[in-house]
Amino acid sequence: MIDERATTAAKRAAGYKAADLVKNRMVIGLGTGSTVFFAMERLQERIRAGLTIKGVPTSFQAEFRARNYGIPLTTLDEYPVLDCAIDGADQVDPHFRLIKGRGAAHTREKCVAAAARQFLVVVDTSKMTPRLNAPVPIEVLPFAVTPVMAELTSMGGMPMVREGAKKDGPVISDNGNYIIDCGFGIIDNPEELESSLAQITGVIESGLFTRFTDKTLVIVGEKKKCKVLKSRDIVA
Ligand code: A5P
Repeated sequence: MIDERATTAAKRAAGYKAADLVKNRMVIGLGTGSTVFFAMERLQERIRAGLTIKGVPTSFQAEFRARNYGIPLTTLDEYPVLDCAIDGADQVDPHFRLIKGRGAAHTREKCVAAAARQFLVVVDTSKMTPRLNAPVPIEVLPFAVTPVMAELTSMGGMPMVREGAKKDGPVISDNGNYIIDCGFGIIDNPEELESSLAQITGVIESGLFTRFTDKTLVIVGEKKKCKVLKSRDIVA
C-alpha cells in the first residue's frame, strides 16, 4: 500500500536537499511536478534569507509556482548556459537514464537539462527501477499524429494519445502539441530508442533522457533523509 504521507516526506527531503545545493548567484532550471515544488519551497526560504538566484521555468505550472514563491525568473535566451537544473522523474534506472513527461513538460525540461552544467534529479524511492519499462511520453505535432502513431506501432510500440482530465479530447502541451504515451515493455536499449524516436518526422521530443548521465546527481528522498547518488555510483 502506498503511504502518501511517507511519499510526501520523501519528496520534500529530496527537494530540500537539491535546493540546499544551490549557491548564491546561480541561474537554475526549474523543473515541473510535485517534487520540484518542494525545492522551490526551500528556495523561497533561502531567498528570504538572502540567496540571490534566477530560475528558468520548464512549464506554465513551474512558472506560476516560482512566481508565487518569489523566485526571479529568466529565460534561456538570457542565459543559454545554466549552473544547474532541478527536476523530477517518473522512472530512474541504475545508469541514471530517465523517463519523464507525466506532466507533458518533458520537451522544455530536456532543453533546460541540456543547457545545465549539472542536472539534479529529485525523486522518492518509488521512482527507482532496475529497468525502464513505463510508457514513454512523446510530444508530437498534431498535424502528424496519425503517421507518427503508425511509425511507433511498426517499431513495436503501443501508442495512445493522452486524453485530458477535466477537458474532453487530447491533452495539449504548453507548446501546443499532442502527447502520445507509447508502451515498449522493458526498454533494453534506452539510448537507441531515444535516438530512433527523435528521428521520426513529426516527433518534437520524447521523455527518454539518456544523454545527461555524466552530469546527473540523483537525490533519492526517504522519510527523514535522502541519498545523493553521483555518476561514480552508476552500476556498470
Ligand atoms: C513533468 O512533465 C514530468 O517530467 C515531471 O518532472 C515528473 O513527472 C516528476 O513529477 P513528480 O515529481 O510530480 O513525480
